[in-house]
Amino acid sequence: MGKLIVGNWKMNGLGTSLAEAQAVAAGLGSSSGGPGVRVGLCPPATLVERMARSLSGSPVLVGGQDCRAEASGAFTGDVSAEMLSEAGAVLVILGHSERRSGYGETDALVAAKVEAALRAGLEPIICVGETLAEREAGRAVAVVSAQVRGSLPQALAGRAFSVAYEPVWAIGTGLTPTTAQIEEIHTAVRAEMSAVLGAPGARAPILYGGSVKPGNAAEILSASEVGGALVGGASLKSVDFLGIIAGAG
Ligand code: 13P
Repeated sequence: MGKLIVGNWKMNGLGTSLAEAQAVAAGLGSSSGGPGVRVGLCPPATLVERMARSLSGSPVLVGGQDCRAEASGAFTGDVSAEMLSEAGAVLVILGHSERRSGYGETDALVAAKVEAALRAGLEPIICVGETLAEREAGRAVAVVSAQVRGSLPQALAGRAFSVAYEPVWAIGTGLTPTTAQIEEIHTAVRAEMSAVLGAPGARAPILYGGSVKPGNAAEILSASEVGGALVGGASLKSVDFLGIIAGAG
């Protein structure tokens, strides 16, 4: 199956940044990572509608970076899955470590958000990952397995989704796990997905995220059970993001 390569712009991007998204779409024709590669960009919520409009007709999927579990209500500052969908999003990142650590998001809350995303017809990308302290304590597999178990609702069976393994210590640091470490965690994630969801859990892609760059993408993406990448910093520059996509061939 083709890889899924998604850029997470985090809290970066003004209207002028849409040129980078258009350059990604334009570049896909020439440097596409081979047949079946799916490419997505998740800008801040303020840019979702404009990016979706400016990329309409291109194969680039647009997504949100978070959503509220409720469809509407008195939740000042929040955005619902329905609102993202209406703005043109088809993907949504949920349970990113920056939300788990910065906003106290629990596995149960992430699971509720996943249900909301499915209700709105969005394809969720559910993030998990251990901290450095947890890895050094030999708990990486246990921590990530528990996050998968708690964050994946039964409603995912038969729906399009992916899980993204993003070790917290590799995000924005330039550090990456070894191929063996990635494969160990992805194998554990796969086992947990299958245990929770049965056969549908054996099929959905598992993305790797954390300091993916053009120079390491091909090696990471060829590791077993790596079905794609979730890219932060390097997705802000079209040249770098296209270089990563090329590594998915
Ligand atoms: P970096 O690629 O900047 O390390 O960020 C990874 C990430 O958090 C993507 O969601």
